[in-house]
Amino acid sequence: MLDFSSGKNRFVRLDQVSKDYINKIEIMTNEDPFYPIYHVAPKCGLLNDPNGLSFYNDEHHIFYQWFPLGPVHGLKHWYHVSTKDFIHFKDYGIAMYPDELYDSHGCFSGSALKAEDKLYLFYTGNKMIKENIFEPFQCYATLDRDNKVVKHGVLVERDKEKFTGNFRDPIVFERQNHYYMLIGGETVTGKGGLAIYIGESPKHFTYLGKVDVGLSSFGYMWECPNYYETEEKGVLIFSPQGISSDNKYDFKNVFSVVYIVGNKIDVTDLSFINEGYFELDKGFDFYAPQTYLDEQGRRILIGWLGNSKSEYPTDKNMWAHMLTIPRAISIHGDKIRQEPLEELKALRVYSEQLTESTKLTSTSFEIDCEIGEVFQIEISNDEGDKLIFSSDGKEYCLDRSQTTYVYAEKFGTKRFALRKKYLNQQLRMFVDASSIEIFCDEGETVFTSRFFIKDMEKISVSGLNGTIHYLSKIILDK
Ligand code: FRU
Repeated sequence: MLDFSSGKNRFVRLDQVSKDYINKIEIMTNEDPFYPIYHVAPKCGLLNDPNGLSFYNDEHHIFYQWFPLGPVHGLKHWYHVSTKDFIHFKDYGIAMYPDELYDSHGCFSGSALKAEDKLYLFYTGNKMIKENIFEPFQCYATLDRDNKVVKHGVLVERDKEKFTGNFRDPIVFERQNHYYMLIGGETVTGKGGLAIYIGESPKHFTYLGKVDVGLSSFGYMWECPNYYETEEKGVLIFSPQGISSDNKYDFKNVFSVVYIVGNKIDVTDLSFINEGYFELDKGFDFYAPQTYLDEQGRRILIGWLGNSKSEYPTDKNMWAHMLTIPRAISIHGDKIRQEPLEELKALRVYSEQLTESTKLTSTSFEIDCEIGEVFQIEISNDEGDKLIFSSDGKEYCLDRSQTTYVYAEKFGTKRFALRKKYLNQQLRMFVDASSIEIFCDEGETVFTSRFFIKDMEKISVSGLNGTIHYLSKIILDK
């Protein structure tokens, strides 16, 4: 196995290792009991941000950041899958290799936009210019109807007077025959910010300046901006680094995801007028989400079900992370609500009524229940290791302090959220071997996390009525 300790071997290329090496780590990944069955996950190595999410040519296209050789942030590729129903997936393998001068040290994150019958893929080429000093280039590629990706080179270089080398993750939106590109970054004064560019076509952009989001100081770096417009509003979702709070509810993860529902960005004075921001997810492992519109007009969100600073108990099996389940999002006032995509109901293979204590026949299931003010859901094994999600009526608590493999404790073992709806309400929870996604308060409060219980075998509940649906595996075809 390659040794990745102290940053070693991160830039080893796929063609520098043997087929045997890859076979071996694919088997280790495949045999891991904590590997999910209905989430998109890497066949080995590390997956992080979703990229280029789009509905194009009658299919949902999902790309993701991938380092094939182990569970670390090494040389990033774009991996490509597509699906019509989120049950059957086509696996295209690697869509972009870091093989050009401008992306030699990683094809970093980016987004997609349909134009001229093609899917434009905007991304950040990462190039090492000196030992451990990197320069970002905003690049583009296109995907055609045959699902072939062709790279076209650099579109935009950074404004070095305003932004440091932390400048990446382009997203392009269209308004009144113009294209606008937003890029997340760190300013030379050490603050997170958004740069905006304008283009007459998706192939040429000119710098307009920095967007004034009305947050004078909000972390040191903003990653993965995602911006879209409804008829009346502009919705910005981004992943700021360096945010914390004094209360027990907000920004407890090392990096967070924030959203703002405001007026549309004013492209003349570059202001984004809004009345405030909210944390998008209350769990331990959620980052860099993207959204896109599908053919039914649904706005779909998928995130990275992981975070970059924790080491996971499964790292030894040479894989890391998965994508979240797809969620339909909607705007209510200044809040985002998330709802698991309807298609996922087709994964249900067998359902039963939950009793006080239900023996699990599989570790991949969904709970759909009506909760009272006070309730508790405990997932456990016969040694008493457990994960608990509960509420005292005022707040929710996700507690992974008693799981078998407690990890990343320095970032805490419990997450809390203030409860928004006190009355009886529906709660949905998706568990897949080592992941959990919980939707409550009509989707306004969501917890997304990993957890590790060896041989989980039982679910015990109180204060709720509900059903457990066992879920089947998604099918991946080459
Ligand atoms: C976020 C991120 C992005 C970057 C990518 C590299 O997780 O750091 O800003 O483009 O990951 O994999």
